Amino acid sequence: MQIETLKSKSNSNRFQKFAVAAAVLLVAGSLGFAARANADEAAAQSFKSNCVVCHAADGTGSPTGKSLKAPDLNSDAVQKMTVAQIEDQISNGKNNMPPFKSTLSKDQIAALAAYVKSAFGKKK
Ligand code: HEC
Repeated sequence: MQIETLKSKSNSNRFQKFAVAAAVLLVAGSLGFAARANADEAAAQSFKSNCVVCHAADGTGSPTGKSLKAPDLNSDAVQKMTVAQIEDQISNGKNNMPPFKSTLSKDQIAALAAYVKSAFGKKK
């Protein structure tokens, strides 16, 4: 009888430890998720304020962008570019696309380049 109580006590201790560990993992996981979601959110916001005027929210190009010969960001030609090439293009501009290195930080440009890769080109 006494042994049994002891045993069940240690079992519930183990359960408590497990529950605490699970809760810690859960919180850590959702914090990481929230941080990532915020970064995506910031890039999406920055795309809206800097790029949509020519590239449109869906990346296919606004009438202005099309008249300037902006390519569809979903196209293979754009999606084949590396993140580094896209960063370079956003920083320095190209033909009718203006440079952004004086208006956006390096981090913002990096986030936008990643955004171009993650938000476009996958919907088939
Ligand atoms: C004033 C219109 C305009 C704005 C604003 C603009 N772009 Fe562009 N973008 C263009 C044009 C035009 C091209 C085609 C450049 C070329 O190759 O001649 C282009 C090309 C691109 C390409 C393809 C690269 C290539 O070499 O073909 C990417 C990626 C891109 N833009 C991303 C962005 C991002 C991200 C932003 C916001 C920071 C942005 N653009 C803002 C007009 C614009």
